Amino acid sequence: MADQGAAVNIQLYDAGSYQFFSQKLIDGLLMTDISKTDPKVVVIFGTRPEAIKLFPVVRALMQRTHIETLSCVTAQHREMLDQVLDIADITPDFDLNVMRADQNLDELTARLLTGIGQTLDEIKPQRVVVQGDTATAMCGALAAYYRKIPVSHVEAGLRSYNIYHPWPEEVNRKIIGTIADQHFAPTETSAAALRKENIADTQIAVTGNTVIDALLITADKTKGPDILDPELQQICRKFADRKIIGVTSHRRENFGDGLTNIAAALRDIASRDDVALIFPVHLNPNVRAIMYDALGDLENVAMIEPLDYPNFVSLLKNCTFMLTDSGGVQEEAPALGKPVLVMRDTTERPEGVAAGTAKLVGTERQLIVAEANKLLDDKDHYLAMAQAHNPFGDGHASDRIADIIDASLTAT
Ligand code: UD1
Ligand code: UDP
Repeated sequence: MADQGAAVNIQLYDAGSYQFFSQKLIDGLLMTDISKTDPKVVVIFGTRPEAIKLFPVVRALMQRTHIETLSCVTAQHREMLDQVLDIADITPDFDLNVMRADQNLDELTARLLTGIGQTLDEIKPQRVVVQGDTATAMCGALAAYYRKIPVSHVEAGLRSYNIYHPWPEEVNRKIIGTIADQHFAPTETSAAALRKENIADTQIAVTGNTVIDALLITADKTKGPDILDPELQQICRKFADRKIIGVTSHRRENFGDGLTNIAAALRDIASRDDVALIFPVHLNPNVRAIMYDALGDLENVAMIEPLDYPNFVSLLKNCTFMLTDSGGVQEEAPALGKPVLVMRDTTERPEGVAAGTAKLVGTERQLIVAEANKLLDDKDHYLAMAQAHNPFGDGHASDRIADIIDASLTAT
């Protein structure tokens, strides 16, 4: 660390007992100190998907022991973040604990920006790494920019070209794109989007999406279709003679009518006696109120608490298909050969749609129900969608990212 090096330097000159050291030895010691002044990189994250997509990056950076890698969690999510930290065995160096119940974007942004700013002043890193498009990622990049610290953006270049879908993520990632000097694009499509915004080619690397790294690490641990969680195991046994549909839903732009429509569609789908829905419900109170109210009385809809990542991967493996508005699930389901109906009007992940494993079904009740029924009743249609396609990476994205960060830190 530059500062520690300076402190040792002063100690050496202040302490008279050190004065007999020959200049050569002092030079040697200072060189040792300089070699200890490892460049510092701080990885900032706060929500469940960021933790899932960044734990392989943190691991890859930590393997490069000449870099000091620090993790700063904002805890924009608390329980859902902690689930991932436990599984990934990460103990954060800084925990800002910003989450409040039903937080709104203004107060969340204010807490994040000031909290991250203070932490960066303390750490004084040479580089900041953020992922995706959450409030944490945007504030991490902005706080770094205010201190002229360079920013690496993991999962760069995703664009829906509609600032309200997803909201506020489309603008968050554009802000990060303006600030970052290293853009780790998961695919050629996302790299092309960045080039279209005049980002220099030299600042863009197509790395694959780190979610595939996380998925492979986790799927390897949960070999086969085994279900680890006893509650999930029991639910799957109960519904053994039915087709299981996995469900997740949480988007802010869907609060209100969107979520009400989605809940009504889920109720219609559950009226079939050959299906069961397993729905780990996001902890956002706006989601829970609508979903428990609309679906709480249905025997074949299992609304459960958020699953930890290995168990969610088990659900992905065991379901017939996924109904979701999640970003990450759009990437994971195709990799596992599971059709995914995306309950959104637009997607920043067109690769899954192009590959034929994902389909946009919006948030209108009739269309969601019609597309779900088609998958359940039309075997050829199902098989056409259920081909395993993985347009999002080969599981080595984190190493590529760590190599580039490493090279830039050691070059400075
Ligand atoms: C956030 C991100 C979104 C991302 C999503 C992943 C923003 C603006 N939104 O949305 O991009 O797709 O995370 O899930 O950054 N809560 C808990 N415990 C938790 C997590 C959430 O109680 O562990 C509840 C709290 O009441 C919290 C609320 O959920 O206030 C909303 O959390 P927040 O992070 O603001 O928004 P998300 O909708 O989760
Ligand atoms: N996920 C999980 N447990 C759950 C639901 C989802 O571990 O109960 C994982 C999922 O595999 C994916 C990520 O969480 O990697 C997606 O998070 P979310 O849908 O909250 O956010 P988004 O991807 O939409 O930003």
